Amino acid sequence: MRRIYAAWLILLLHLPGVWCMSEQRREELRVETASLFKHGYEGYMKYAYPADELRPLSCGPLHRDPDPNNIGINDIHANVSMTLLDVLSSLPLIHPSAFPKAVQLVAEKVSFDQDVKVQVFELTIRALGALLSTYQTLDDLPDDPSEQFTALGLSDEGSLLSWSKKSTVDVKQYKGRILELAHDLGKRLLPAFDTITGIPYARVNLKYGVLKGESIETCTAGAGSLLLEFALLSRLTNDDRFERLAHSAYLALWNRRSAQNLLGNTIGTHGHWLAPGMSGVGAGMDSFFEYGVKAGVMLDDDTYNDIFYDSYAAIQTYIRTNDGFIYRPIQTRLLQPANPSTIDSLSAFLPAMQVLAGDVVSAIKSHLVFWNLWRKHDAMPESWLWQERKTEWTGYPGRPEFIESTYYLYQATKDPFYLRVGEKILSDLKKRTKTKCGFATLKNVMTGEQEDRMESFMLSESLKYLYLLFADTPFPNSNTVFTTEGHPLRMPKDLLKAPSTPRRAMRKGENPTCPVYRFVTVGSTIPSQGIIVGIEGREDYDYARSLIYGWDATGVDIEDGRRIWYDGGICKVPSEPKFAFEIVLSPLNVTDPTAVPPEDPSPGPSKVEQDLATGDYVISDIEGLRLGVRWRFDGRGYDVANIGPHRIRQGQNVIVQDPAMRGHLPIPSTPPVDSHSPPELLLRFISYPASTAFVNIPSSGTQGQILLHAVGATATFGIDFVPISTKDSASSSSLWRIGVRPIRLIIPPKVDNQSYQGCAIKSSEYLGINHELTDSFVLVVSRGGCTFLEKLEVAKKIGAIGVLVVGHAPLAEGEPVPPEGQGFEEGLIRPSAEFEESHPKNQAVRDVGMIYTEWVIGEVLRRIVEEENKLVAIEILSIDADAGARAESDYHKDDSSWKGREKNEGLLMVGQWPIMNLRVIDRYGGKPP
Ligand SMILES: *[C@@H]1O[C@H](CO)[C@@H](O)[C@H](O)[C@H]1NC(C)=O
Ligand SMILES: *[C@@H]1O[C@H](CO)[C@@H](O)[C@H](O)[C@H]1NC(C)=O
Ligand SMILES: *[C@@H]1O[C@H](CO)[C@@H](O)[C@H](O)[C@H]1NC(C)=O
Repeated sequence: MRRIYAAWLILLLHLPGVWCMSEQRREELRVETASLFKHGYEGYMKYAYPADELRPLSCGPLHRDPDPNNIGINDIHANVSMTLLDVLSSLPLIHPSAFPKAVQLVAEKVSFDQDVKVQVFELTIRALGALLSTYQTLDDLPDDPSEQFTALGLSDEGSLLSWSKKSTVDVKQYKGRILELAHDLGKRLLPAFDTITGIPYARVNLKYGVLKGESIETCTAGAGSLLLEFALLSRLTNDDRFERLAHSAYLALWNRRSAQNLLGNTIGTHGHWLAPGMSGVGAGMDSFFEYGVKAGVMLDDDTYNDIFYDSYAAIQTYIRTNDGFIYRPIQTRLLQPANPSTIDSLSAFLPAMQVLAGDVVSAIKSHLVFWNLWRKHDAMPESWLWQERKTEWTGYPGRPEFIESTYYLYQATKDPFYLRVGEKILSDLKKRTKTKCGFATLKNVMTGEQEDRMESFMLSESLKYLYLLFADTPFPNSNTVFTTEGHPLRMPKDLLKAPSTPRRAMRKGENPTCPVYRFVTVGSTIPSQGIIVGIEGREDYDYARSLIYGWDATGVDIEDGRRIWYDGGICKVPSEPKFAFEIVLSPLNVTDPTAVPPEDPSPGPSKVEQDLATGDYVISDIEGLRLGVRWRFDGRGYDVANIGPHRIRQGQNVIVQDPAMRGHLPIPSTPPVDSHSPPELLLRFISYPASTAFVNIPSSGTQGQILLHAVGATATFGIDFVPISTKDSASSSSLWRIGVRPIRLIIPPKVDNQSYQGCAIKSSEYLGINHELTDSFVLVVSRGGCTFLEKLEVAKKIGAIGVLVVGHAPLAEGEPVPPEGQGFEEGLIRPSAEFEESHPKNQAVRDVGMIYTEWVIGEVLRRIVEEENKLVAIEILSIDADAGARAESDYHKDDSSWKGREKNEGLLMVGQWPIMNLRVIDRYGGKPP
């Protein structure tokens, strides 16, 4: 209780609006990023080239370590000017005047004929990816040298710095050599695949192949993220070995997944998972998933899409915490996180991948966790003990993952919040890592201590993604992806493989779509009006902050483990619907109702058949069928994703017409959630000077000051708090709706200094209402004394349009806990009436409405009214921030799934959510055939 009183002081804050960034500022940031990039590139060329890396503190080259065990350096250092190679694909974008010379140096000087043991994965993503990307850039250039000069965006001034004094350039001449280098490197990596499983060795000697006694241990990401580079190399060179081997390595890993579709972190090339049997999305696993979705995009191949979406469902089901924010590793057997357990900076790639996969809602949340990690440390610590909220490993080598995700999310949402995240990153990189000749690794993000190393990804990815964030470069389109090292690769149309006939048939009716991100607007049901909230105005923004900073750091504390205070109102711990599960449809066994028929693992056409005309799947016999069900990215509910081995693609429907379903299904005649209030609403309280007239207040925020926001629960009786529609009449009850206008609150005086239960109020005059100033009002009452329904009846009698019920005061310290059912529950409840909906008592209050909120809200409001002599008003907003709560009230409106539905056709509901692509048809209308 003491803490709640303390919290009053910080409640008088307003909702953060969207603080936009001017185009001019964005341009400044782009130019500044480019100049940082040039600083690093020129530093490397001056002090380190032709070494693989620059020493940014001592301004000299960094060479291979004579100690073969120093794999942190030697895995990457191949004596091939690795930094130059890795930045090649960034130069045309950020520093074009250096591009021709850089290509010439690579073409003429780099040789992979080196006696060095290196990592297959690192050489693939850094060197091979760069060469292939550069080859494609060169291939796209015009043949005429003077046209190349223009195409590369070179000015005469720029060309003085590097290439030549003439306004021509023939960089395209190196195209063949660049591809030849790529092919040569590819061939030198092939010996790694000579294993019984096809899972490659982690390391190979570029000159001598796999050495005797080489370790068989490799990681899932290392063996499973070669697809993009290897597939493109194969198709460009007509040498199919690379794609074949990368493909079978990928499948070899996937085929060893657990029953839950989880993979381990480390595996032997003989095919057994190695201890400690952890699964997650961070180091060792990250790019396996990334390459699934990206291979699906680039190669247009369902094999990878299917694997990706299955593995993603497992991530969302097991790796993600219930609140939807943290993706932590779990033990593959126990399906539990270890304690202690960490999330690492590499897993900050996840939001980018989620955006690509179409799950922007989840991406926003996971990104917020990393944003707070960066914000707290002014950099990204390598690993974080998420349960204890402590850094574990404090280094920051200039990693790009968080920046990359920020870029993708900006592209997907255009929310200026992400530009400001980038602005902070840029300023921190400059302040903390920039040195005389390059950028240093941070040894410790707390102290800022630097280390004499600049990884090639600092330039090739971190500064590139930052540049892309501030630039207006179009997002790569079809069959184009950025590799996990940030190299753009594209599968040319003529090299795409057409899907086989059976595959094309299975895709009939497919209609892949990504939900469009909707900028969160509150205060209006029309998207272009109202207050635009943006990412920082989301209800869960401060929740994400508390996950990193803890509840205490904001000066407030957690009350009951589920709710926290933050400086804008109440913040509830969010929770996500279960992402994926299976349902078994089975005919009722009359003799034993609990009996479940045995599963039919490969149901034939007698049970399930694809309708070749529409692509839909028709189930004629449900016995033994197991349906995999997954959450939709648009938040509207679920979709059936598979029936046993049959995969259901987006846009395809599942039609059940088994007479055994008759009578066992909800077959609603109207859409199931139509005309029901959302269970929770966002309440905004606004204060006004005492003389304000509440007649026709046009909209919120204009005269009043926003006091706080809180969450309210709707009652199961009274009016429906659905958004107002144009056909609603202008009756007073239509004011007490989502997003209409602020309505004055009347708070009756306390009786016996105890409460204001509102059970016996006789008239509005008693409450001192001036009807000249107030046309409609909502009564604030506390819980207890009479039933919820009676409170609403009283309110109606005295002319209120609704009631805001506040909960009981929390128990004082030492006060005995009342028995359950006495109305002392903490948190929100939904008021209900003991009568059927059709009961006259319920019908009598159809035009007044009730909302329930927590005790402290009433206390704050009373204080404003009594002590500050203000009027207060309430406005109802929908909790529109994300999937979970939104869809309910509006999904049926614009949704075709109800259009054209016949009588005796229904949706199967899972809790409050429909399975959108499943239609159950009762051909006999419920009557015996
Ligand atoms: C590095 O490569 C160059 C040629 O590419 C070669 O001349 C030189 O000996 C190599 N250095 C080492 C240390 O292997
Ligand atoms: C119904 O259940 C009983 C007891 O489990 C079983 O013996 C019988 O075969 C079942 N009938 C059908 C049609 O599955
Ligand atoms: C209520 O509190 C006020 C001030 O604290 C006091 O003057 C008054 O007597 C109290 N009334 C009752 C009924 O206890």
